[in-house]
Amino acid sequence: MTLLDASGIVGGYGAADEILKGCGLVVADRELVAIIGPNGAGKSTLLKAIAGLLQLKAGRITLDGTDVTALSARARAQAGIAFVPQEANIFPTMSVRENLEMGGFLASKSAVAAGIAAQFARFPMLAEKRGAAARTLSGGQRQTLAMAMALMVSPRLLLLDEPSAGLSPKAADVLFETIIAVHQAGTAIAMVEQNARQALAIADRGVVLVDGRVAHVGPARAMADDPDIGRMFLGGA
Ligand SMILES: Nc1ncnc2c1ncn2[C@@H]1O[C@H](COP(=O)(O)OP(=O)(O)OP(=O)(O)O)[C@@H](O)[C@H]1O
Ligand SMILES: [Mg+2]
Repeated sequence: MTLLDASGIVGGYGAADEILKGCGLVVADRELVAIIGPNGAGKSTLLKAIAGLLQLKAGRITLDGTDVTALSARARAQAGIAFVPQEANIFPTMSVRENLEMGGFLASKSAVAAGIAAQFARFPMLAEKRGAAARTLSGGQRQTLAMAMALMVSPRLLLLDEPSAGLSPKAADVLFETIIAVHQAGTAIAMVEQNARQALAIADRGVVLVDGRVAHVGPARAMADDPDIGRMFLGGA
């Protein structure tokens, strides 16, 4: 079943209002979609458009068949779309626990308590560090915290922008395992990744974005084996 259907999206920033030139994204229930493409292609902009953080000139976005195009970012979050931006996705001076509370700001008090317990059970590292300031966490731990914050509201769709950026290969491996676990627990995910090979390895489908348009879409496995895509995005044929 289709969960997210964004189509004909045109939008951008200020005068540059056509960064996205009519692109789209479909995510099925429980699907993991990897979005790859060159720097400046509009990958982050597309995630912002879906999260409700971009002024659109055209396009339509539905979640579970309901049109959310006119909804604010907050209303979309309430409808089940959670967005983890690449940067500034945690509150550095707040504790791990306080960060999770912030992640649950849309939820009721009892839901926040239950959500924190659920995230601590899911990510024991966060439970161990619950009182520590978020800035004292390693890069991989911060990305895990950012994801846990997003999961506080039990989203239908998790949007991740370059979760492995800046991480060591080992920390990236751990984070990808975490993403696999979140996916397997039933959350649909659309993930932008610079590390295209690793992203396609865990994704169901891949989308290649070039200059604000979808250049290619298909099963992730086939895409990982495609020599053209290999040459352009995966570092060699
Ligand atoms: N806040 C902004 N204001 C104006 N232009 C912006 C803004 N953010 C991004 N852009 C421009 O929009 C275009 C697409 O940027 P975007 O960040 O979506 O690309 P990207 O595919 O995520 O690239 P990267 O791989 O470098 O993260 C770029 O030309 C960029 O300069
Ligand atoms: Mg980006």
